[in-house]
This record gives sequence, C-alpha cells and structure tokens, in this order.
Amino acid sequence: MAPALEKGSIVAVIGSGAMGSGIAQVAASAGYEVHLFDTRPGAVAKAIDDINAMYGKLTEKGRMSGAEAAAAAARLHCVVDLHEITKAALVIEAVVENLDVKQMLFADLESLVGDDCILATNTSSISVTAIAAKLRRPERLVGMHFFNPVPLMALVEVISGLATSGHVADTVFATAAAWGKNPVHAKSTPGFIVNRVARPFYAEGLRLLSEQAADPATLDAVMREAGGFRMGPFELMDLIGHDINFSVTQSVFNAYFGDPRFMPSVHQQEMVNAGFLGRKSGRGFYRYGDAAAKPAPHTEPAQARPESVSISMEPGVTKAVTGPMELRLKSAGYTVAHRKPLPNAEHNEAPAFHCTGAAVFLTDGRTATERANANKHPDTVLYDLALDAASAPRIALARADQCSDSAYFAVVGMFQAAGFAVTLLDDVPGMAVMRTVAMLANEAADAVNQGVCSAAAVDIAMQKGVNYPRGPLAWADTVGMAQVVTVLSNLAATYGEDRYRVSPLLRRKLANGTTFHG
Ligand code: NAI
Repeated sequence: MAPALEKGSIVAVIGSGAMGSGIAQVAASAGYEVHLFDTRPGAVAKAIDDINAMYGKLTEKGRMSGAEAAAAAARLHCVVDLHEITKAALVIEAVVENLDVKQMLFADLESLVGDDCILATNTSSISVTAIAAKLRRPERLVGMHFFNPVPLMALVEVISGLATSGHVADTVFATAAAWGKNPVHAKSTPGFIVNRVARPFYAEGLRLLSEQAADPATLDAVMREAGGFRMGPFELMDLIGHDINFSVTQSVFNAYFGDPRFMPSVHQQEMVNAGFLGRKSGRGFYRYGDAAAKPAPHTEPAQARPESVSISMEPGVTKAVTGPMELRLKSAGYTVAHRKPLPNAEHNEAPAFHCTGAAVFLTDGRTATERANANKHPDTVLYDLALDAASAPRIALARADQCSDSAYFAVVGMFQAAGFAVTLLDDVPGMAVMRTVAMLANEAADAVNQGVCSAAAVDIAMQKGVNYPRGPLAWADTVGMAQVVTVLSNLAATYGEDRYRVSPLLRRKLANGTTFHG
C-alpha cells in the first residue's frame, strides 16, 4: 500500500463545473492546496464563491469550525494560466466528457508538471486506457471517479487502465481515503463498477412496466417499502433525467458490443422522444410542478384475517429470507405446523405457508400460474423478496390465474394481519424485488468474475455510490446462491434471452458451497 499524498501538497483541479468544484471543496477542506482552472471566463471565481458559501453553511451547522472554514478557503487558488500548476503532486481533470479534449488536455499537462505528478481523470464513461494512450508516460494516469454531489457522496472509484501503475492507483486510493472518501479499486471497463452493476435496477423496472406488472408508483413503492431502496427506479430515473439515464445505458450496451444484459428500453426511448425527461422537464413517469400530485401506489383493501395458516420451510430457500417472515406471522398470532408438501406436487414441493387452502411461496422466478400448474394446486400465491421481512412495511404478491378469490383474499388478510400493506403485481416471472436483486447480484458477480473489482469493492460501491441498502453480493449471500441461481435460470427459461444467463461465479459459489463474504 502506498501512502496518501501529504497534506499541503498541491492538487490542481481542471474544470470547475459541478464535479470540479465539488472535488476542490473536498480536497481543500482535507488540508490540500487546491489550484482550480477552467477555460470559461469567470467560472473559477464563481466556483470559489460557491465553495466558500458551502463552507459557511457547514460552519452554521456546526460541521466545521470558523477557523477550519477560513483555513480551507485560504487553500483555494484561482489558476489563470496552466503554467501555474507545474508544482502539482496530483492533477484531477473534470472537463467535458470528450476523449479528444481529455487527451489533448493531458498531453499539455504532461509537458508542464513534474515527473512524479499523478494525472487523474474523473471521466464516468470513457476508457481510462484510451485517455492515457497518447501520453509519454501512461502509467501515471488513473481514473478518480467521484459521484455527484461530491461533498455528499462517499464513493470514489479508482480506475486502473491497462498501463496504470499499481503505485499510482494505490496513492490515489490512499489520498481519497485521506479526504474522507470511501475508495474502491476497479479495472477500466465500460461503466466501471456502479454504472455497470446498477443497470438492472433501471432495466428490470422498465421491463416490469412494459409487461404491465404494475404502474410506476406501485412498483416504486414495492422497491422502497419491501426492497428497502431509498428510491424506486421510476422516481430515480425521473431525478437523473431520462436523456442521461438512457444515454448511459446505451453507452454501456454499445461498449459491451450489444450484450443483451444491457439492452436499452424502448419504453425509455419513447420517454426521451416525447421530451418527458423527468423532473427537469416537469414530466417523466410522474408530473412535477405546483399542481402535480404524486399518484398513490396500489394497495389491496383490508381483508378478513384468516385463522387457518400453517407455516413450513420451503426446501431450497434460505432461512434468512423465510425465517423473519415466519416469525412475523407467528407474532401476528399464527401457529406453526409441520411442513406439508402439496399432495400433487411433482417434486414434493412444500409452500412456505398454507393459508386456508392457498399455497404461498417465495417467488423462484416462475410465475404463480406456472407453479400452480406444476403442482396441480390452483390456489397458489407468491410473495416477493423483502430486504427484511421482519420490518418491511409492504409486501408484493402475485396470484396464479387459476387461484380462487377466496384463497387469494385469505392470503392478503394473512399478510395484512402481520402488518404489511399488500400490493398485487400482475403475475410476472420473478416479481419486482427478487428479480431486480437477482440481476444486480448477477451483474456484480460477473464484474468480480471478470476481475473488474473484488466482491468487497462492488458491495461498497453500490452502497456508497447509489445508496443501496445492502450490497448485491451480500444480498446473494442472504437470499442464498441456490435461490438466486434458480430465479435467474427460471427467468432465462421463461424469456429465452441471453440477458438472464447466470454468472459463472454464482454457479461456482453454489457448487462449492461458499458465500461472497464468508
Ligand atoms: P460541467 O459541464 O458542470 O463542468 C465542466 C467544466 O469544464 C466547465 O466549467 C467547462 O467550462 C470546463 N472545461 C471544458 N473544457 C475545458 C478544458 N479543456 N480545460 C479547462 N476547463 C474546461 O461538467 P461536470 O458535470 O462537472 O462533469 C465533468 C466531468 O466529470 C465529465 O467528464 C463527466 O463525465 C464527469 N462526471 C460527471 C458526473 C456528474 O454527475 N455530473 C459524475 C461523475 C463524473
């Protein structure tokens, strides 16, 4: 491990827009001398004013003392001519996202700075290898990918191109940590970690919408209140902007030569075509503005509490998922009976719960209708994954087409008696949370399998870069490799699409009986 650059070292930040000014703010408050440069007249002066205003707010909130704010402000310097940065120990580029511009800028910088100076790019989508390719010493260039807004987002992806030296990547890693950030190492590959592994969060949401599983407000509520995500995919895409979100998906899809894993959504393309870009245009999946009321999610009306529920463990499903649900139902006053396999089930399949005749299973990637048919048990209802079934406020259900109203309503009444708001999704394979989590874990496993990053790094990245409530691989550990592989295999069988192919690393973990995080 290389040490961090020393406090007081000169850090030049090129580009003083949204990212550059955030990086400058963080570096100066961590004790580094920041020299800020921008080609746009007045841009740096404005950025420094804005940063000082931020320091003022932090002082008011008691997060910085007045003396600390004054010292940090004194460490911010406006660069008029690039020749002023010859003594920089680190130069971070945050200019326009264009390969030619970045290559030309780094060629200029290389001729100005000393031999030991590290060159870093904040690119979010361009190959770090390509940016470094024209340098005399490409080994000194590394990706330092911050997230917006920089002062609030802890993650920094430290991206090594093919030529980047390990010492340079380690120095930048240690320096980001010294700035209070949470760095992770990653190899320069399309989307790096977060912009690649997050794709299924949006894509599966868009596919669920296209397949009419439910409306956006309902799917968002399920992802938030059952899945534990801070925002559902539709409200998040509206916040990001559909033009930006669609173009990131397209760029990752193209960069992976059309791998169907990353296929963009026709539905989202239509949103872009319509100019329904989200919050910034006043309309996306939701309407914004004074008169706009957010639609309520679909929630089943109250049903009578059924008395007869027997609870058993499903074979192949980890206790970590069904256990908390079982406990919650028990604490709602339901008694536990012995496991009762369905009389006509082909594989002796036992549901998690029998509820006045209805068989209730955790989704395994098949539809309820298919499962009812396989078990010759029409009254079949599926429930979706929850981050923590012991405390989730909402649960999603899917009912088989053959399921009787009386059996379905009894199941609704059972979950309501345990305190859940119940949402019915149309009978789509894998439901919402399970399908999304399985695909996030699949992508995370492939990133690890392909040497992009470690299992620990991908989980930190998704928690710190996009605020996921749990890392996708930790989630796979909890749900169980067998269940994740089954869900993905069933999705692959249903859709016949390579998109749902199972990561070899998930299969390997299943076969050798290990987990990602021990
Ligand atoms: P921005 O448009 O807010 O700022 C870019 C700044 O660079 C502008 O002030 C512009 O005048 C200046 N500039 C352009 N060419 C220049 C040059 N040759 N020399 C000096 N200054 C130059 O852009 P933003 O959002 O700050 O993005 C900057 C970089 O960070 C891009 O590569 C972007 O992909 C990346 N990034 C952006 C994120 C975001 O959420 N905005 C997140 C992570 C990375």
